[in-house]
Amino acid sequence: MLHLSKAVLRPVLAGLALAAAASAAVHAEDSKKPDPALANSLSPNDPTAEKDEKLLAKDAAVKVEDGKYSDAEGHPTFRVTNDGKKVDWFTYSGYRRYHAECHVCHGPDGMGSTYAPALKDSLKRLSYEEFIGILAGGKQEVSASQQQVMPAFGDNKNVMCYADDLYVYLKARAAGAIGRVRPGEREDKPEAVKKAEKECLGG
Ligand code: HEC
Repeated sequence: MLHLSKAVLRPVLAGLALAAAASAAVHAEDSKKPDPALANSLSPNDPTAEKDEKLLAKDAAVKVEDGKYSDAEGHPTFRVTNDGKKVDWFTYSGYRRYHAECHVCHGPDGMGSTYAPALKDSLKRLSYEEFIGILAGGKQEVSASQQQVMPAFGDNKNVMCYADDLYVYLKARAAGAIGRVRPGEREDKPEAVKKAEKECLGG
């Protein structure tokens, strides 16, 4: 009896699982399409922006939640509107954090220096995971002629609590969504961000 019911149940359960998987796949596919309502509106003439159409397409926002935009891979991304005059909160905050913590070595606007690489170029190839890993753990290239050290910021809350902000700003620079400008207008600081920031800095 037990044997029989198992034999009957098994294909039914398998069928159900398949159906669930298929509907999940369709759903995921839907949420991966760039949302025209979230499209960027970039500055039509900013020669410092170096637009990279491929990256702009790849980084396009497919979702926004509590003022935080994400791309098809589910990673944080930028959103620029109003002909390049307005940016999302994370791009703005990342700009400020970058110029407080990183520009001394990496140069203003992610342009690089004789000491450290141009992050506007590095972020064309680095994944989100790689970026966070380097930020937290540092990086050291030692050769006979040079010794360059990227410090590990894993214990620095002023950096790690803003890791996504830094990533989003540098992604916007890498894709050429914004040029060498101080962001002007910005979206309001989301309530969820205020809360997360407080917890991160205080905890
Ligand atoms: C004391 C100088 C210094 C500071 C401050 C600094 N970096 Fe670096 N960073 C470096 C150097 C030098 C390298 C290159 C290390 C190497 O290639 O081994 C580097 C490499 C990197 C890389 C890897 C780049 C690549 O092309 O692989 C990332 C990402 C990075 N830094 C992000 C940041 C961010 C974000 C900040 C600010 C929170 C920051 N760095 C602050 C010196 C610095």
